[in-house]
Amino acid sequence: MKNLSRRRFLKASGAAATAGAALIGSGLANAQERAAPGATTLPYPREAITRAGALEDNVPVPFNYPDAESFCQIIKTGHPVPGGIGPDGDIVAFSTQCTHNGCPLSYDKEARTFKCGCHFSIFDPEMAGQMVDGQSTENLPRILLEHDTADDSLYAVAVEGLIYGRQCNLL
Ligand code: FES
Repeated sequence: MKNLSRRRFLKASGAAATAGAALIGSGLANAQERAAPGATTLPYPREAITRAGALEDNVPVPFNYPDAESFCQIIKTGHPVPGGIGPDGDIVAFSTQCTHNGCPLSYDKEARTFKCGCHFSIFDPEMAGQMVDGQSTENLPRILLEHDTADDSLYAVAVEGLIYGRQCNLL
């Protein structure tokens, strides 16, 4: 019986090692290797989101980053804002999972804020995702963007802040 338990343990260990080897082969593993110890802004895969010229003022566009389970929105505010990029310094992006309990946020065009319908937290995309009201105590994680002036593409390149439900900012 003891030997059987040991065999099961070794089998499970082997499966974990195989999974780890698969991860090491991915670009994500490379990103993890490049992460400085203790860093809060960690490298992620660079992913094309849209073109700056395709965005309309005050109309957010949803996307997923750094994976399909992580919901975000990119928005052109129409005037320069902290952290804004693009020709007018007015394009920013955030995780749109509430930092209180993870509910999905919706954008209020009139108030120009992201709002949570669960417990009414409010976040300001024009102030770097600052939490301005409600139950949450954390600002929205910011999706760091790059603008390629050659073809007007916008890329997501990293996450600043902890996405709700994750224990660290690596996948
Ligand atoms: S989940 Fe958003 S305020 Fe509670």
